[in-house]
Amino acid sequence: MILIETDNLTKTFNGTNAVDGINLKIREGACTALLGPNGAGKTTTLNLLTGLMNPTKGKISFDRRYSGDRRKHLGYLPQYPKFYGWMTGKEYVVYAGELGGLTASEARSRAEELLKLVGLTDAGKKRISGYSGGMKQRLGIAQALVHNPKLIILDEPVSALDPIGRREVLELMKRLKETTSILFSTHVLHDAEQISDDIYIIQDGRVVIDGGLEELQKKYQQPTVHIETEENIEEWSKSLKNAPWVRHLKAEKQKLTVTAESIEDARNALLADERLRQLKLNKFEVEKTSLEDLFMEVTK
Ligand SMILES: Nc1ncnc2c1ncn2[C@@H]1O[C@H](COP(=O)(O)OP(=O)(O)OP(=O)(O)O)[C@@H](O)[C@H]1O
Ligand SMILES: [Mg+2]
Repeated sequence: MILIETDNLTKTFNGTNAVDGINLKIREGACTALLGPNGAGKTTTLNLLTGLMNPTKGKISFDRRYSGDRRKHLGYLPQYPKFYGWMTGKEYVVYAGELGGLTASEARSRAEELLKLVGLTDAGKKRISGYSGGMKQRLGIAQALVHNPKLIILDEPVSALDPIGRREVLELMKRLKETTSILFSTHVLHDAEQISDDIYIIQDGRVVIDGGLEELQKKYQQPTVHIETEENIEEWSKSLKNAPWVRHLKAEKQKLTVTAESIEDARNALLADERLRQLKLNKFEVEKTSLEDLFMEVTK
């Protein structure tokens, strides 16, 4: 089931498209990462989804099973959340619950439940001003969950944190994704690889690559062999074209690049190749491209 879908979502600021025709399909039950470098348009996209901004062009549709204003069904943690430092964590979640329409007693019991979920039961009694970055983000996540949303949207939930805070929040998100659909943004591929099911890589307001995490890893983590010889190897390379271990092959004069199913198969097959043994090799190099290489390349 698709919870939220956008069609050609566009936001223009002063003649420039910060979001430039983005199509998203956020699946229910999935953890989706919006991955992109600074200024890619992540926050703007999330602000459009949460209704904090109106799109210049394009459409956002929310799952028809859930009626009314979609904002009722969304929880949101902004990139730079503001907390009242003088409040206790619990007071803050109660306050958010009451703003979201819960009665005072509902808000209190919901706050207790959520503080337990995010590991702040004891800290909830203390003032937020004494919280670490990771604790603040976990409190922000509790706040985003207060009205039981269908989807929580977290804008760079771990970017500003030190390694300990990062781990705390990523662990929490890992647990949450068992029960809640999550959409979060990050500029760190590693974060996305740790917890997401689906990834959208965005750059200059456009989706450049998207898909399931495993599918993308498989597609881009390909072992590649580069061969260079003294002789022209275009003719010889044709004999490899239909080999079962070859995924993709590009030959030009003395150079050949082969992408393989597995590095072992490629190595074994090539080293056993009689013709190759007779060639004067200048280079035989094995390389493993990864999603990281791809991300660096598309966002460079
Ligand atoms: N309110 C605004 N008015 C004018 N330009 C804006 C506004 N908000 C964002 N932009 C521009 O839109 C582009 C995308 O910004 P956005 O904040 O969405 O990127 P981002 O991916 O969230 O970046 P970051 O990783 O730094 O948070 C940037 O060039 C930014 O300067
Ligand atoms: Mg941002």
